[in-house]
Amino acid sequence: MIQVHDLHRHFGGFRAVDGASLTIETGSITGLIGPNGAGKSTLFNVIAGVLPPTSGRVVMDGEDITGLAPHELFHKGLLRTFQLAHEFSSMTVRENLMMVPGAQAGETLMNTWFQRARIRDEERALRKKADEVLEFLTISHVADEKAGNLSGGQKKLLELGRTMMVDAKIVFLDEVGAGVNRTLLGTIGDAIVRLNKERGYTFCVIEHDMDFIGRLCDPVIVMAAGKVLAQGPADHIMQNEAVIEAYLGTGLKNKVAAEIAVEHGHGAQPGMGGVEA
Ligand SMILES: Nc1ncnc2c1ncn2[C@@H]1O[C@H](COP(=O)(O)OP(=O)(O)OP(=O)(O)O)[C@@H](O)[C@H]1O
Ligand SMILES: [Mg+2]
Repeated sequence: MIQVHDLHRHFGGFRAVDGASLTIETGSITGLIGPNGAGKSTLFNVIAGVLPPTSGRVVMDGEDITGLAPHELFHKGLLRTFQLAHEFSSMTVRENLMMVPGAQAGETLMNTWFQRARIRDEERALRKKADEVLEFLTISHVADEKAGNLSGGQKKLLELGRTMMVDAKIVFLDEVGAGVNRTLLGTIGDAIVRLNKERGYTFCVIEHDMDFIGRLCDPVIVMAAGKVLAQGPADHIMQNEAVIEAYLGTGLKNKVAAEIAVEHGHGAQPGMGGVEA
């Protein structure tokens, strides 16, 4: 679905993304991991049109989408969430969802004068859709709450919910699990899997929690220092020497490799999650 060719994004002389090439297959939940500062969010920002690339190309379903604006990509079904949730805090949760589709009839003055019935119908449909999304995400009970009052995890669910208000094809999730408690992380994971299976969403997921990545993602792409280091099934990736080195440096490599060998098959991958570079 998405092909990234030799992508660069430099900030002055600093190469945040330094020749990254990767493919995201249609229907996959692709994981994107790597130490802090690896260039993951910058790569997302370039793909999603938030930042122009210094060079390189992004292709979606055979069409060159390099440098298109976020709203153009939005209309093609390419959506992203942000590492830090950016809800409209003084609006209710339901209102936050209802405003996503944009270009609604109620937005121009002429329409408000002449098309009241149409606006009313549209609002009713949006409200119904928002309530369905909230139910899907198991947060119907906060529909009328101001979004600013939500917990960190609930805000992340709301971010995911925003992608469900339109017909998304591919969704880029930047650390959707960061600062989220275990229960909500499970809910977020379940919602991602259901959206993938039932609605055909393709996902690319940045996350530091290796349990979460291991449970959800295939394949997993590893970035370090702006480049793609490895790509493959989660269990292979987590035993990959270059990957372990990128996270931890050579000193800890052998110790962690031993731990991973012991843990392999039990899900948990100690030492890989949340490690600061
Ligand atoms: N606007 C900017 N100007 C200058 N440097 C930047 C800018 N944005 C990011 N960087 C730098 O680029 C590098 C990559 O940052 P990025 O946020 O993409 O990393 P990341 O892999 O998402 O890390 P994390 O896991 O901590 O979120 C970092 O060293 C960061 O300081
Ligand atoms: Mg980031």
